Amino acid sequence: MNMYDIINHKKQGMRLTREEIRFLAEGYTKGEIPDYQMSALLMAICFQGMDEGETLELTLAMRDSGDVLDLSGIEGVTADKHSTGGVGDKVSLVLTPMIASLGIPVAKMSGRGLGHTGGTIDKLESFPGFSTDLPISQFYHNVNTIKMAIMGQTKDLAPADKKLYALRDVTATVDQLSLIASSIMSKKLASGADAIVLDVKTGSGAFMKTEEEAFALAREMVQIGKNAGKKISAVITDMDQPLGRAVGNSLEVKEAILALNGQGPLDLMEVTYALGTELVLAAGKASSPEEAKDLLRQSIQSKSALHKFAEFVEAQGSEKRFVYQPELLPAANIQLQAINTEEGYVSAIQTEEIGRANLALGGGRTTKDSQIDLSVGILLHKKRGDLVRPGEALATVYANGMDAAKEAYGRVVRAYHVQEMRPEETLMVKGIVR
Ligand code: URA
Repeated sequence: MNMYDIINHKKQGMRLTREEIRFLAEGYTKGEIPDYQMSALLMAICFQGMDEGETLELTLAMRDSGDVLDLSGIEGVTADKHSTGGVGDKVSLVLTPMIASLGIPVAKMSGRGLGHTGGTIDKLESFPGFSTDLPISQFYHNVNTIKMAIMGQTKDLAPADKKLYALRDVTATVDQLSLIASSIMSKKLASGADAIVLDVKTGSGAFMKTEEEAFALAREMVQIGKNAGKKISAVITDMDQPLGRAVGNSLEVKEAILALNGQGPLDLMEVTYALGTELVLAAGKASSPEEAKDLLRQSIQSKSALHKFAEFVEAQGSEKRFVYQPELLPAANIQLQAINTEEGYVSAIQTEEIGRANLALGGGRTTKDSQIDLSVGILLHKKRGDLVRPGEALATVYANGMDAAKEAYGRVVRAYHVQEMRPEETLMVKGIVR
């Protein structure tokens, strides 16, 4: 068997066999298959697709490329959450301490930014000294003692996905249903939690632009999880505008801390409560969605989720004071306001364009080795449905260089659409697949 034939088979639209999929996952993990051949295969998959059987095989091959954690020693139903990727999506930062503060152990494996979307690991690194590179023993210890740990992919957990994820990020091969499903589910199966909730994003800032594609992705992932014996559900949520107001690593962390202080934007909180309700029910901590939501609300009102977040930040190498004084987190030097010129209502925000503006500022990677700037980003002052007058600021660009600031400024202005009529309200939660 060789990689040339495998690429050629997929190019011609053939199904890959179990043996071919195992061969490529193992060979790529061991460094025996070079990036250029894997890039060609990924692009062929983008054009030709994979069926459900191939997607399942790729998921299992990537899961088995490293260790599979056994969390059975942890008391209670362990919980995990994953998003298919969005712009301004800081839900994990708000939801995980809420869940942990209710006594439900959270054992989560997160990723870095992907394409135009952000990643939880990059965001958490805004805390000076914070590490997601945890030895497994430390991961267990933290889940057992403080009920919460988030780790990045190590060389031991789903390493095939870790390498493929970084390659897809820079080869325009992210937005393919089977590649997303297998990437997410290989990590979720390897990290061993009992209950999983998936946030499947749809809209102009998501990889799945239509609801139809998002539901198809949700069904595929839920099926893979069920076959593996997991309690799993997927909530399909709106990504037709950035979630909340902040886009960019440390700006999003600051907004998440505001949310934990009870001042979160409504859209962010609605998605967080919807996902949280699924986990609280799966963990058996409530007997109805209303009761689950009440518990989640109390975790914010009592500040127990905020204190849990501070405890978690300290347990992973940083300091609690950054949670209680978020003004100490990285901040950019330049602020440039994007000014509106016409009177009307914001009818749409091209969300991928806002994500690309953040990339242009250095907030994401353009090559595998790019260093990212955690302090840059965009703060949206106007969202869909808001009335705007000429001269009012639509958004502020936070940058550390004038050239990047100007490019991001152009993208932000182009992303906004203003019209005379107020647009219809859209639902944040489009549906749930169980
Ligand atoms: N998140 C992942 O972990 N993988 C993807 O492919 C997309 C989002």
